[in-house]
Amino acid sequence: MRMYDLIEKKKRGEALTEAEISYMVQGFVEGEIPDYQMSAMLMAICFQGMTPDETSALTLSMEHSGDVMDLSPIQGCKVDKHSTGGVGDKTTLILAPIVAACGGRVAKMSGRGLGHTGGTIDKLESIPGFCTSLDREEFFRIVNETGLCVIGQTGNLVPADKKLYALRDVTATVDCIPLIASSIMSKKLAAGSDAILLDVKTGSGAFMKTPEEAAKLAEAMVSIGTAAGRRVVAMITEMDIPLGRMVGNALEVSEAIAVLKGGGPEDLAEVCRTLAAEMLILAGKAEPGTAARKVEETISSGRALDRLKAMIKAQGGDSSVADHPERLPKALFHHEVKAPAGGYVNHMDAEGIGLASMMLGAGRSRKEDVLDYGAGVELVKKTGDAVKAGEILAVLWAGNEGLFAEAEARLLSSYEISGCRPALRKRILAKTDVNGTRFF
Ligand code: URA
Repeated sequence: MRMYDLIEKKKRGEALTEAEISYMVQGFVEGEIPDYQMSAMLMAICFQGMTPDETSALTLSMEHSGDVMDLSPIQGCKVDKHSTGGVGDKTTLILAPIVAACGGRVAKMSGRGLGHTGGTIDKLESIPGFCTSLDREEFFRIVNETGLCVIGQTGNLVPADKKLYALRDVTATVDCIPLIASSIMSKKLAAGSDAILLDVKTGSGAFMKTPEEAAKLAEAMVSIGTAAGRRVVAMITEMDIPLGRMVGNALEVSEAIAVLKGGGPEDLAEVCRTLAAEMLILAGKAEPGTAARKVEETISSGRALDRLKAMIKAQGGDSSVADHPERLPKALFHHEVKAPAGGYVNHMDAEGIGLASMMLGAGRSRKEDVLDYGAGVELVKKTGDAVKAGEILAVLWAGNEGLFAEAEARLLSSYEISGCRPALRKRILAKTDVNGTRFF
């Protein structure tokens, strides 16, 4: 087999066989296929697409390019979730305790933030003492004892994705549905859970700008996961606006705690209640007709918050932050951003707000950047809110006052204020399962 012939075949729009895809992925990981040939292949895939069978074969080859997690030492149904990325997305911190409190098992590996999006591992590490690097035995023990544990990636999981993603990033081949679907699903399959809930974001802060594109990605991922023998459902949710009001690590942990206490911003609470109900159904811990009530009861009884405390304690963190969020790291300085004009917040650019938070020290522009856990943005006004000139739009938090000017300019350019009240989009737009996508 020659890579040259495979590129030629894909260029003509023909489907590659399983053996050809496996040859290509293996050869690339082992360094036998050079970046320039793989770049040509990626671009041919962008133009010609892939059939569902090709996308599944690519995913499975990527999944088996490195270690695969065997979660069998954990008893019960293991359920995972994945969000395609967003700003202010702290849903894992809320969903995992709810699901664990209802008998599901959440053995989750999460990532760190880069650029405008945050990462669950950074958020958890903002809790004093919290440890996200545990060995497998410890990871399994904590899940068996508390129902949940969240760690950073261990072992050599999906090396093919690391190499391919780096190449896609510099060859303008990221935004291609079969490539995104195989990248995400190879990692989810390798992480070993029995059931997977996908939260596919759509809007200005997401990869998929329209609900229709999001549905295509959701369908591709559900089909890959189902063919691999996992139970997979995707919810398509809104990401034009950051989720909740807090963006930044410790700020987001405190907001997640508020939702687990039955409060918190309405948009975040609604998205989390819906996603948690779907995870319970997937894990076989609730029926469709009663899952939402079960989620409510788990929150109102305090059982979900207790699970969060148990996880924090088991992972070495200070679990008193759940009752005293003021013990979380707090930035030394804050700065109020005032509205330059009156009217309604007509639009917010989620990506711009994520970048403002990053500039304050809450995120990384380069992998090696050190985070300021207390830094970030509190969004006082969000899309649809009325605002008077001079009223507070947002509060910035940072450890250095010199960071405010640039972040304020970024934040203000992300807000659009006009005279008419915008129509608000639904937060949960559609559900995709093996039968297709149903828009609400
Ligand atoms: N997230 C991933 O993990 N992979 C992609 O290709 C896009 C988003």
